[in-house]
Amino acid sequence: MTLHDQTFVVTGAASGIGAATAALLRASGAEVIGVDRNPAPEFPGTFVQGDLSTAEGVAAVADRVPHGITGLLNIAGVPGTAPWRLVLSVNVFGLRDLTRALLPKIADGGVVVNLASSVANGWAARSAEVARFAGAEDRAAALDAVAADPEVTGNSYRFSKECVRWLTLSAAAENLGRVRVVSVSPGPVQTPILEDFKKDHGRDKVEGAVALLGRAGEPGDIARTIAFLVGPGAAWINGTDICVDGGLGAHRATTAALAANA
Ligand SMILES: NC(=O)c1ccc[n+]([C@@H]2O[C@H](COP(=O)([O-])OP(=O)(O)OC[C@H]3O[C@@H](n4cnc5c(N)ncnc54)[C@H](O)[C@@H]3O)[C@@H](O)[C@H]2O)c1
Repeated sequence: MTLHDQTFVVTGAASGIGAATAALLRASGAEVIGVDRNPAPEFPGTFVQGDLSTAEGVAAVADRVPHGITGLLNIAGVPGTAPWRLVLSVNVFGLRDLTRALLPKIADGGVVVNLASSVANGWAARSAEVARFAGAEDRAAALDAVAADPEVTGNSYRFSKECVRWLTLSAAAENLGRVRVVSVSPGPVQTPILEDFKKDHGRDKVEGAVALLGRAGEPGDIARTIAFLVGPGAAWINGTDICVDGGLGAHRATTAALAANA
């Protein structure tokens, strides 16, 4: 696949899945504009150091992006070991507001890819609350409104990714025929964030899942999926989620169903 004459903004580009995606797109001929709060000295393209946790930080990053880009890959994310307000600020409002700011700069036929997570696969059960939070215009008020809800503050990462699933649907619906918007939901992938997931979700649970699958995902597993989604082969894939979890979801769903029947 060749991506010559195409430019992609890749957030979270200094590490893990973002770095692997930037490298793969570059190797496929695309120009890449990387964004991260951390520096990336060897970055294979233009690099913008910026903080997506605040509205001001998002605006500063968006200002540096030219018109006519092909796509935005929202890969930056923080784990649930971080303070819950930060998790929701980056994973929900940072992603949403950067998307809003850059959509007018995305050429017709372009694409947005959002990194969700397989832990958010049950998002539809909370769709009303998710839609209310993710759509809130006043982010400080929205954060205050969930501060007393342990279901949100105690599961901030899962809730944030449930919001990403909703934001993907709503942005796809609002941009039909012009820009596709899809999400990717990885299972456990070997990047620096995986150690945080072990602390957040339980070491035994995460390591047990990896043992069951035979290996953790690699950043390249997810980068190749994203590269497919931005290319012509995915032209009719829009407003949906691609789960890339080695089959972990199949195991969990069938185990739960069979246990319920036992
Ligand atoms: N690794 C996994 O097991 C896994 C599983 C499911 C989903 N994901 C998601 O995939 C995405 C990429 O994660 P990863 O595994 O590559 O982790 P990672 O920690 O290697 O990379 C995340 C990047 O996001 C950047 N970032 C965090 N906060 C930022 C901010 N405020 N402004 C700008 N950049 C910021 C970090 O500096 C880092 O470079 C995340 O959204 C994560 O939630 C990862």
